[in-house]
Amino acid sequence: HGGGPGYRSLPVPTVIAHRGASGYRPEHTLGSYQLALDMGAHVIEQDLVPTKDGHLVCRHENDISGTTDVASRPEFASRRTTRSVDGTGATGWFTEDFTLAELKTLRAKERIPASRGHNTLYDGRWAIPTFEEVLRWADEEGRRRGRPVWLHVETKHPTYFRSIGLGLEEPLAKLLRRYGRHRRNSPVFLQSFEPSSIQRLAKLVDTPRVVLLAGAITRPWDFAQAGDPRTVGDLVTPEGLKWIASFAQGIGPTLDLVVPKDASGKLGTPTTLVRDAHAEGLILHPYTMRNENSFLPADFRRGTDPHAYGDAFGAFTVYFEQGIDGIFTD
Ligand code: G3P
Ligand code: CA
Repeated sequence: HGGGPGYRSLPVPTVIAHRGASGYRPEHTLGSYQLALDMGAHVIEQDLVPTKDGHLVCRHENDISGTTDVASRPEFASRRTTRSVDGTGATGWFTEDFTLAELKTLRAKERIPASRGHNTLYDGRWAIPTFEEVLRWADEEGRRRGRPVWLHVETKHPTYFRSIGLGLEEPLAKLLRRYGRHRRNSPVFLQSFEPSSIQRLAKLVDTPRVVLLAGAITRPWDFAQAGDPRTVGDLVTPEGLKWIASFAQGIGPTLDLVVPKDASGKLGTPTTLVRDAHAEGLILHPYTMRNENSFLPADFRRGTDPHAYGDAFGAFTVYFEQGIDGIFTD
């Protein structure tokens, strides 16, 4: 299949720690990455956004209002603004308005304290990591453990950032080269929701593991900007998968694209996506397995204890039965 050189050293299904062990520590902190590794995750995920001075930092989105203490910092009050990164506006504080030195004065905190109250114990403990710090950490941990620490790196809102002169792919490729993760057998996956970002990355580095993410309802923002009418639904047909396989080695679909659920949360008949993608040589890394994705929507509102996965995780076996290659999990 499409895993490429080095891929076979990874167990399948591969456990990809989504934003680190984000069910247990504030996401995208060195603490959440370290715990994920200690818990036995095979691959650690990073989402990347840029600072004003072009450094890549690990955040799920450029809006840092909910995952740092920026709102309580009077010196940054005037930076609050409105941005549109994908056609929908949001008001808050954004990484592209901060230099790295300024961002480093902030402290990470839990995104969803209502359902992950225990994570708030760690609020304020860690700074926002740069991707370079993560590469250094992964190298050190790899040496210590005698085996490489695999990373799964996502470019966030690449078309928007390119439009404001902060292209993500070139600095990412530069860092991958600097830390020797640009080769065909390097322990790294690269991922994006935007095909143009994947295609750009594939030209800049030799890693044979680029993964196109596929949200169940989203239209890739680079498509929208270019007037291309296709949606993700159009991309995961046998014909669309053939096109994806012309530039990527894997897809990252939502779980719903593998086994749909009805409005009440009841599982339906599995789709043919796993079979169709494998027929094109594409590996599948669906997202996201966490107890807030429980098949009882009330669980999310109620705020369940992430240590008590119980039936919610038992229900995920249905996805493994379909033959997925890996899973993003909190
Ligand atoms: O990268 C896989 C998955 O993380 C995509 O969703 O929104 O959590 O980045 P998101
Ligand atoms: Ca991600």
